[in-house]
Amino acid sequence: MNKLRSFVKNEMETLKNKRDYRRFRDRYKHTKRVLEWARRIHAVEGGDFTVIEAAVWFHDIGWEDGVPHALVSARIAEEYLTNNYFCTEEICNEETRNKIINAVKMHSYKELPGDDMDIETRVLIDADNLDELGATLVIMDSITDYINHPEESTYRNVYKRIYKYYSKLSGKDNEFKTNEGLRLYKDRMEFLKSFLDNLEFELGLDMETEKMKIEKDFKSAIN
Ligand SMILES: [Fe+2]
Ligand SMILES: [Fe+2]
Repeated sequence: MNKLRSFVKNEMETLKNKRDYRRFRDRYKHTKRVLEWARRIHAVEGGDFTVIEAAVWFHDIGWEDGVPHALVSARIAEEYLTNNYFCTEEICNEETRNKIINAVKMHSYKELPGDDMDIETRVLIDADNLDELGATLVIMDSITDYINHPEESTYRNVYKRIYKYYSKLSGKDNEFKTNEGLRLYKDRMEFLKSFLDNLEFELGLDMETEKMKIEKDFKSAIN
């Protein structure tokens, strides 16, 4: 798996030039965090961890304008897994290879029901979905708010941004395909709710007025 990890790292280095790159949202670091989520879910749900790990490494490797990145990544995974130079027994037998490619291909289809998916695909989808939720979301939104509006960034504006994303991410239970993934998601959302309650208290926000304002801004941002 070491060879695979270095291959992914190199590919992702070249992607930095093609995409809008922000250090704190580095895709290689995202991939490493997804692997940790996958480990936690796999410990409870099972599945073939060799397939899960390889699928995690490949899942965001591809990027091309106008083509879903899951399909580009699956194509790169397929090329890699059929190339004799890279092949090792653990990942290149036909059944394992097909499962890895399929998981990578399916990882963006979070709205599809999980019943017909392999356990490995379901673990990848949930692990990917869990990254940048919870405490990480708070940091991500704080940095992003400052980068987007350095002159206007205030605690209240960061609060508004986190509240908006919290609302957007609520009620996504059916995007989670394993019980453990769903449990971890609910935990993150509870943490965020408690964080927002504490922040409202500390900033002395009058919530009736604030929430009405935020919902109005939110709707106009979406429309
Ligand atoms: Fe992705
Ligand atoms: Fe991802």
